Amino acid sequence: MSGSIPNEFIDQLLDRTDIYDIVSARVNLKKSGKDFSGLCPFHAENTPSFTVSQQKQFYHCFGCGKHGSAIGFMMDYEGLDFVDAVTELAQKVGLEVPQTGGPRLDSGKNLYEITEKASRIFKNNLKKSEATIKYLKNRGINGETAQLFQLGYAQNAWDGIAKQFAPEQQSLLLKVGLTVSNDSGREYDKFRDRLIFPIHDRRGRVIAFGGRALQADQKPKYLNSPETPLFHKGRELYAYHIARKHSRDPRILVVEGYMDVIALHQHGIMNAVATLGTATSEQHVTQMFRAWDEIVFCFDGDRAGRDAAGKALLTALKLYRDDKQISFLFLPDNHDPDSYVCEHGKDAFEQLLDTTIPLSKFLLRTASQGLDINTLDGRARFHDKASQLVAQIPTGTFRKMLVDKISQLTHVEAQLPPQPEAKIIFDEKNLTPAKKLLSILLQHPGSVEHIPEDIPWHYIKDKRIEFIQKVIEICRQNPHITTAAALENFRGTEYFDRLGPITQHLKPLSVEQKILELQDIVAYFQEKIRQYRIRQLREQQLAEGLTPEQKQELVALLAQQIN
Ligand code: UTP
Ligand code: MN
Repeated sequence: MSGSIPNEFIDQLLDRTDIYDIVSARVNLKKSGKDFSGLCPFHAENTPSFTVSQQKQFYHCFGCGKHGSAIGFMMDYEGLDFVDAVTELAQKVGLEVPQTGGPRLDSGKNLYEITEKASRIFKNNLKKSEATIKYLKNRGINGETAQLFQLGYAQNAWDGIAKQFAPEQQSLLLKVGLTVSNDSGREYDKFRDRLIFPIHDRRGRVIAFGGRALQADQKPKYLNSPETPLFHKGRELYAYHIARKHSRDPRILVVEGYMDVIALHQHGIMNAVATLGTATSEQHVTQMFRAWDEIVFCFDGDRAGRDAAGKALLTALKLYRDDKQISFLFLPDNHDPDSYVCEHGKDAFEQLLDTTIPLSKFLLRTASQGLDINTLDGRARFHDKASQLVAQIPTGTFRKMLVDKISQLTHVEAQLPPQPEAKIIFDEKNLTPAKKLLSILLQHPGSVEHIPEDIPWHYIKDKRIEFIQKVIEICRQNPHITTAAALENFRGTEYFDRLGPITQHLKPLSVEQKILELQDIVAYFQEKIRQYRIRQLREQQLAEGLTPEQKQELVALLAQQIN
């Protein structure tokens, strides 16, 4: 169920991995009872509802419901796919992932090979393209910076890239967006006569490309890879891996263009990333908060810049955290970070950075735009607009302070729609016996010894019962399995997501109490199965009659009822 990697390997891997090590390297955790807790890295919150259990080898957020094993954590946190997450964990504990050669393992790997090779070809082309080197020089980019960003050049040809790959790789070129096919099905290079910016993922692998026109009449100015299996714009930030490696600053600057990042770097400002021609997404913000404490959104001073800032504001509000900061920087008219730093230099740009507008101020400014709050009417409209914006902020000190501020400015108490409280996903009282059984088994796999082996589960033809049987089987095979490893058996099935919450027992029961509860539940199921079987036999009796054995069975079943 876990692609091409055998379940036994997953068990072994999770056995050697401690989820605490994996999570605590990325999230601040505090001991809380026998578990650990911290602020959830997957949603915005100011009070910790994220828990990590070493005993279960499991993490769970009571706020947003995210949960899983160390593998699941690596997938969600690092944005890795299953195979990559397993590979990374395996490297940590010195295990080698068995290469059984499933299609999943292969295809992902092949796609990266294609993009990496294309990037090398573009880079080599650049060495031979005097015009492009001159273009870069004119823009103040030296060889060292070009090398760091792996800049390249796409030849002015229809098959500059295509001809460098074998016939059986042509479909992969299409898949990663390096070629496009025309109406008659012919494939040709997407990037022609352009300066190439390879786009890397967080681990530094090439996943996509941007290409800038070199001639004034060449349209569009920038051409970018489409969404592909490797590349999702809303998730990636240009130069994230470089900023992460080179910046010593607690701030990360978010700029609009490739060239902005590169020019800033050239001038010694190394903590910049760019969104890839899209608005800043929630994923972008969440990801940046993992590595930096403050996000500074830099926008051009023009109208488009202000519009973009408005969008970024909305995203930022939703993900606001009291322990992080967000601010906005507007460049003077007709400047972007690139032109500004080239014209005025590093020091001047750093002075600009001292003039950033904090999120609170930008929110109030946005809400009061075009309004005169000295008039009653203006104050009323400001009150509405500001309240709407503040309503986006998660509950916490910052939100309270802004509410007070709005009341103060308008002399009206701000009325916010109530913020939904963290959902309680697990309500023990409402658990069905099936869920209770699973909950106990998955948390104490060893308790399986209290379930008789001869329960005729198979009489009930029900997917849930089949599922219970499967869990019982896993626990019998390995009574010392951890919760997380047991769950990994179900990855990719419809049960996987639903199981997490079931393993979160809120009721502090002793093991003995749980065994008693388990025995009750087993009795419940035995009775259910008995009734079920009686009904089955009776129906058969009416329809076609019973064999002598079946008659005996029915009598015995009915006798149990009298007891
Ligand atoms: P800009 O038009 O602001 O360009 O686009 P720029 O970054 O200042 O580039 P230079 O200085 O003229 O070289 C900002 C970003 O928007 C995306 C690109 O990601 C670009 O870096 N964009 C822009 C496109 O995707 N396509 C376009 O045609 C233009
Ligand atoms: Mn520019």
